[in-house]
Formats: sequence, C-alpha cells, structure tokens
Amino acid sequence: MPTLRWKDKEKFKHLISNTESKAVSFQINEDFCNISLKTTSIDKDNVWKNLLIQGDNKLVMESLIDSSHEKIDLIYIDPPFATGGNFNYKIQIGEEGASEVVKSYSDKWNGGIDSYLNFLYERLLLMKDLLSEKGSIYLHLDWHVSHYVKIILDEIFGEINFRNEIIWVYPAASAQTRKFFIRSYDVILFYTKSNKYIFNDDPNIYMDYSDRVKNALKEDENGVFYYRGGSHDGKKLSQKVYVKQDGIFPRDFWHDIPYIRANTVEYQGFSTQKPERLLKRIILASTNKNDVVADFFCGSGTTLAVAEKLGRRWIGCDTTNHAIHMGRKRLFNINNGNDLLAWKKKYNQPLKPFKILSLEGFHDRGFLNDKFLEKEEYFDLKNIIETNKPKLSIEIHQKENKIVLELQDYSLPFVGKISHKIREKIKTYSDWIDYWAIDFNYSQNVFNVNWTSFRTPKIRKLEMRSKEHSLKTGNHLLAIMIIDILGIETIHTFEIKVD
Ligand SMILES: C[S@@+](CC[C@H](N)C(=O)[O-])C[C@H]1O[C@@H](n2cnc3c(N)ncnc32)[C@H](O)[C@@H]1O
Repeated sequence: MPTLRWKDKEKFKHLISNTESKAVSFQINEDFCNISLKTTSIDKDNVWKNLLIQGDNKLVMESLIDSSHEKIDLIYIDPPFATGGNFNYKIQIGEEGASEVVKSYSDKWNGGIDSYLNFLYERLLLMKDLLSEKGSIYLHLDWHVSHYVKIILDEIFGEINFRNEIIWVYPAASAQTRKFFIRSYDVILFYTKSNKYIFNDDPNIYMDYSDRVKNALKEDENGVFYYRGGSHDGKKLSQKVYVKQDGIFPRDFWHDIPYIRANTVEYQGFSTQKPERLLKRIILASTNKNDVVADFFCGSGTTLAVAEKLGRRWIGCDTTNHAIHMGRKRLFNINNGNDLLAWKKKYNQPLKPFKILSLEGFHDRGFLNDKFLEKEEYFDLKNIIETNKPKLSIEIHQKENKIVLELQDYSLPFVGKISHKIREKIKTYSDWIDYWAIDFNYSQNVFNVNWTSFRTPKIRKLEMRSKEHSLKTGNHLLAIMIIDILGIETIHTFEIKVD
C-alpha cells in the first residue's frame, strides 16, 4: 500500500509508540450539576458527566487513554486546515452592539505542511486508540491538505475502513478570484475502526429531493410517491420509481446544508463555526442514544450542542479560553436553540450535567490574549493578573436566610494597557462583564454553578441582581465567578453568616 513520507514522521511515530504513560491529572474547575437550569443525568447511576476540557488535545487525549481507551464511539474533528492564516472572532461589548475583532487561533505552521502533518499524525494515532470497535471518525478538511491526510488515514485506520469522502458544498458568496474556479466545498473523510461499525438508516438524516424530482413526484392509489424514470437512452421514461416521502438516503455530496448565517439562532460569532445540521447527520448516522461523541477541536461547541440535543454523551476539548467560554454559554443556553428533530421548535429541554476540566499544572485561568494589549505593552499576563486581580464590588441583600447578590462595580487595575479600541467602547463598568456565576457554598477548588447570567450574541442584557437563594443556618463562603469580554476569568469570595 502506498504511504506518505514527510519530514520527521518517523520521529513522531516513535514518540507516540513509546509506552511510558504521559498522562497528566485532570483538575475539575467547574461543575454544572446543580445549576438552576435543572439538570438530569443520562446514566441512572449518575456516574457519567459530559466533559468540556481546556488544553492541548494531545495532552488531553494522552490523559484520557486510561479512562477512555476504546470507549469513544464517534470522533468528529474540524482542525485548522493549514490555510496559513489567522482566525478571528468578534468580542461583543455591552448592550448597544459595539464589537471588536480579535485573533482566535493561528493556522500558520512554521515548518509548513510537514509540521502540520506531524501535528495531526500523532493526534490521529491517539484518536484511533480512543475509538471503540464500533466507532467512526469524521475528519473535516478542505483542498489544502485533505489529499495528504487521506493517505495518512489509510495508513492508520486501514484502507478497508475507509467509508466516504463527503463533499460538503456551500455557496462561496464572497469569493473574488477570476484566476481559477471558485472553491466552494469542504471534504469530510469518514473512516471506521473496524467493519462492525454503527450506521443508521434514520429518516432524520435524509436529504431533500432536488426541486426537479419534487416537481416530478406523483402519488399512486396507495398514497406512495413515485416518479417516472429508468431510461437514460432518450426514450420515454416509463418505469415508476417509488420513493420515500422523507427524502432520499444521503449521497456523499451534501448540498442541502447551508453555511452558518449571523441571523440564525445557532450563530455564536465564531468564524469557523459549522452548522448543527451537518453534525446532526453525522451523529445520527454513526451513533445510538447514549453513545460517547468526542470533538477534540471543539471551537464554539457545535458537536457538543448537537450531541447534547440528540441524547448522546460528549467530550469536547479546545486550547483557547474563549472557545471554552463560548461552549459553556452555548450549552447553558441550549434550551433556547432549535430542536434538531423539529427544526421550527425550540429544543427546550434541561441541560444534562457537565464539568469543565483542565490539565493540572496547565490551568489557564485568567489568560489574556496578546491581541487585547497595546502593541508596545507586552508583559507577563499571568503574573499581572495574579498580583493585580480585577476588582469586583457587590452588594449582599440579606433577609434572614434569603440572599440576593447585586453587582456594583468591576474594574481592571491594568486597564491602561488594554487596547484603546476596546477601552473607548466601554460606557459603563458592566460593559466589561460577559458572564457571572454564583456558587453559594464554595469549596475552594471546584466551582459549582448554582446561578448564572451571561450575554449571548442575541441576548445582550445581563442581570445585575441574582435570584433569591435560601441558605442554611451557619457560615457560608460564597464565590462569584466573573468572565469579562477579554476572557479574564476570576473568582471572588465573600463570607456570610446566617443566624
Ligand atoms: C476550525 S475550529 C473548530 C470549529 C468548530 N467545529 C465549530 O463548529 O465551532 C478549530 C479549533 O481547534 C482549536 N485547536 C487548535 N489546535 C488545538 C489543539 N492542539 N488542541 C485543542 N484545540 C485546538 C482552535 O482553538 C479552534 O477553536
């Protein structure tokens, strides 16, 4: 079988096959079991919780191997495509529609395609170890490297486990070139771990008929639809071809899923966000209820939201603060999203419990992206935040054992170093705040979200007063987590006594 060679491939292959454990412990940062959005557990015994993990996916997967070896039933990844560019996202400021575009993640590779392939190769080897026997992997790419990666996937998963090269075609409305044909599709490579894989013939994954077929459809005396077909030789089409009303079983050419638009409910403002309908087809085809779905490049959390809505368990991972934050808010807000099986309805179901984890020693709380700083003012951000923590003032309204917390002020001691483009758009202190949450009984390490208010791309208003909460008699340590528009995450604690 032909294989692909590139610089340093053997070195990376050797590193990965080294059996010494590279696992790092996970640390739980936030737990969303008790959130007021009422959660339910998928597992009766309450053991499983969905996971959103911040960290480099190589370390994360190495650390998952012990607990999740061959336990994941579907992996969908949409990694950087080796475009050589940077990707941005828009931070929204306050209620009046102000915003600023900042860098999200880089897709520039120092060693060119070779280093990109090394990056992906070692991660794909780990993914194979995590996939269950009945599992599938879908790898989303485009013309830049999909041809190289297909050969690598043949090598890792075996060419007999190749199932499809799916072409997802979308209109490239803004394309300007007149030097070559406009590129308007992505490639999704679909492989399975073995030949015992799940693949469901579910009408919910069907494609719509083309308008030509729809117009030609007729109903017979039993109410079954057909069109006339069966001859390609120019003679009269005479045979009745019976079809299901739901549409046709999907081909590998997907033209029926539009790219994400800013006016849709699912839009998160993440430049490479993928449509929920795309993930719906993949997840329904390749998993059953309760199976585990993972996305190790989860970005705005599309795979996680779709897995959640379809009753699958999920694991998501991303390196950046803002991707994790977007995922967190998207999940909290899930009941306002579209129901995937009845598109015009809201999903409107309680969120299942999940945890946010990071790798011990790699915790990135309070990370501030360089892009937010005045150019000449690069400094050690983590140190600055540790010694110069943002200041929060609140008012505690207490009537016997009932309390309400109200935000009063939030300020950044190092505000002068923040880009003036952002500073000048801040009209009031609350414009800095994107999210706040309360843990009414803080245990000093895991933050249990008991109540939260946050802004979304569509709902910009932030509640300044929490809901009333009843506390038991005794001393309590309350904690407030603030995540501001720059992604700075801080926890502020307050003691309170109930007699
Ligand atoms: C194309 S985006 C994914 C978009 C996602 N499918 C969605 O619908 O929003 C790729 C994501 O991979 C993340 N990423 C890049 N390298 C990573 C790594 N080594 N570990 C974890 N995440 C990584 C980036 O931060 C980015 O959010």
